[in-house]
Amino acid sequence: MQFQSEKEKVLIVDFGSQLTKLIARRVRELEVYSEIITPKELFDLKSFEKIKGIILSGGPATVTSNKFQSVPKVIFKMKIPILGICYGLQLIAKIFGGKIKSSKKRREFGRAILYKKKSSILIRNFLNKKNIVWMSHEDAVVKLPNSFKVIASTKESKFTIIENHKEKIYGVQFHPEVTHTENGKKLFKNFLFSICKIKKKWNIKSQSKRLINEIKQIVKTDKVICALSGGVDSSVVALLVNRAIKKNLICIMVDTGLMRKNEFSQTYNIFKNKYKLNVKLINASNLFLNKLKNVSNPEKKRKIIGKLFIKIFENESKKIKNIKFLAQGTLYPDIIESRSSSGSKTSKIKSHHNVGGLPKKMNLKLVEPLKEFFKDEVRILGKSLGLVKEINLKHPFPGPGLGIRIVGKITAERVKILQEADSIYIKELIKFKLYKNIWQAYAALLPIKTVGVMGDSRTYENICLLRAVTSEDGMTADYFNFPKSFLDSISNKIINNVKGINRVVYDITSKPPSTIELE
Ligand code: XMP
Repeated sequence: MQFQSEKEKVLIVDFGSQLTKLIARRVRELEVYSEIITPKELFDLKSFEKIKGIILSGGPATVTSNKFQSVPKVIFKMKIPILGICYGLQLIAKIFGGKIKSSKKRREFGRAILYKKKSSILIRNFLNKKNIVWMSHEDAVVKLPNSFKVIASTKESKFTIIENHKEKIYGVQFHPEVTHTENGKKLFKNFLFSICKIKKKWNIKSQSKRLINEIKQIVKTDKVICALSGGVDSSVVALLVNRAIKKNLICIMVDTGLMRKNEFSQTYNIFKNKYKLNVKLINASNLFLNKLKNVSNPEKKRKIIGKLFIKIFENESKKIKNIKFLAQGTLYPDIIESRSSSGSKTSKIKSHHNVGGLPKKMNLKLVEPLKEFFKDEVRILGKSLGLVKEINLKHPFPGPGLGIRIVGKITAERVKILQEADSIYIKELIKFKLYKNIWQAYAALLPIKTVGVMGDSRTYENICLLRAVTSEDGMTADYFNFPKSFLDSISNKIINNVKGINRVVYDITSKPPSTIELE
C-alpha cells in the first residue's frame, strides 16, 4: 500500500506475523484508515504529523537474541499512543528495561483465560472479570519495566496486558485480532477511539477511487487482459479496470463445462450487455471433459484443469495484439495461504491454480487491485461499483469448479446430475433466506452408488453430498447448522427432481480437519 501522507492514520508496524493483515482488517472494520509498514520504513519516516496511533505486530523473532528487529525510540516520546501485540509487547518491555525469557514453562498456544487485575481504558467492555483470549508465544515478560503496570494475567503469564497510562503505551501478549479472542474488537475500539482519539473516516468507496487511479497510472494506454469467471473477485477486478481504462480491457471467459448450471451464459450477458465490457466467451467443455476422462486423482484433476485453462487462455490472448498486463482477482488470503510473510512456502495443502500461475509464462505484468482485501471488503467494493447482487453476493467457487466436487471420475452425465442438484440446493437456500448467512454452500457427487427404493422399485444410484460452511476468509470453517425443516425439504426436492440421485447426505465436518472442498 502506498504511504498517504495527507491522511490521519494508524500505523501498523509489521514484524512478520501472518496475523498483521488481520490487525489492519480489524482497524478498517472500525472505519479507521491504517497502513502497514516495515520497521525499516518506520525508521525512515520523516514526519509523524498525521499519525494518531502505532500498533506493533507480533512476529517470529525474539528479543532474547543479540540482534532483533526494533523501532526508533523517538516514537515513545511523541505522546502517540502505542499498542504492542505479542512480540510488540515484548519489544516494548525490553526497550523500557524489562526482562523477557524464552521458556517452555510459560509458553501458551491457543485458548487461554485472561483475568483482570486492574481497570484500564483499554479493557473497557472487553474484560470485566475474565475473558477467553487466543495465545501464540514462547517468550514471555518475566520482569516488568518500572514505569508499567499489570492490567491482566493468565495462569501461565503474569504480564498479559500491561500499560504505561501516562505515556499511553500498552501491550497485550495475546492476539485480539483473531476471532477466537472473545470481543477482541472492543479492545481495538478502546485503543482507537478512547486512547488515540482518531475519527472514523475510512470507507471502501474511497478505496475504489484510489484503486481506479492507481490502475490508470500503472497501465496508461496499454492493453490489459483478464480471465473473467463470474465470481465476485474477477467481476470486481473487471469493473475496476474497465472504469480505469475502458475498452483497453479485454475479458476472456473460458467455459470449462465445469461451472454451475447456466452460470456462464448469465455472466456473459451481464458483462456484455449491462456493463458493455469487451468480453469474449470460449466454449471449451469438450476439451476439458476429454482431458479428464478416467482421471480420479484430485491433484491430477487440478493440474489438468489448471494447465488446460492456461493453455486456452494463452492461445486466446495471443490473438490480441499489444497486451502488456494481466488483471487478476488475487485476494489477501490467497497470498497468505500460498506463502508466509517471510517469503518461505508454507506447506501445500492443495494446488490452487489461480495464484501466481498465469503470468510467468505469458510474460505479462500483473494488475492485482484486490490483493490487499478480504472477500467481504471486495463485496463492499463490488456494491459501490454497481455490481449486480447475484454476482456480488455469490459464494466463492473454486477454479477447477465442479471437477473437484465430482469425487472420482468425471463424465458429462455426472456433471449434468450435479448441476441440477446444486442448482436446486442454491435456489432453496435463497428461498429459505439462508444463503447470505453461509460463506459457501454446494452439492457434490460421491463416487459410490447405494441402494434405495422409489415407488415399488429398487434403485441403485448416486449419493449427493451437501456442504454448507460459515467462515471468515475460507482459512478455517465450521459446518452450518441447518434447521431440520430445511434438511427435510432439500433432501426431498433433490431426490424427486434429479434423476440419478437416491440419497442425500450432509457434511458435518469443520475445517480443519476437513477442507471446504472435497478434493
Ligand atoms: P479448501 O478446500 O482448501 O478451500 O478449504 C478454501 C477456499 O478456497 C476455494 N478453493 C479454490 N479457489 N481455485 C480457487 O480459486 C482453487 O483451485 C481452489 N480450491 C479451493 C474453496 O472453494 C474455498 O472457498
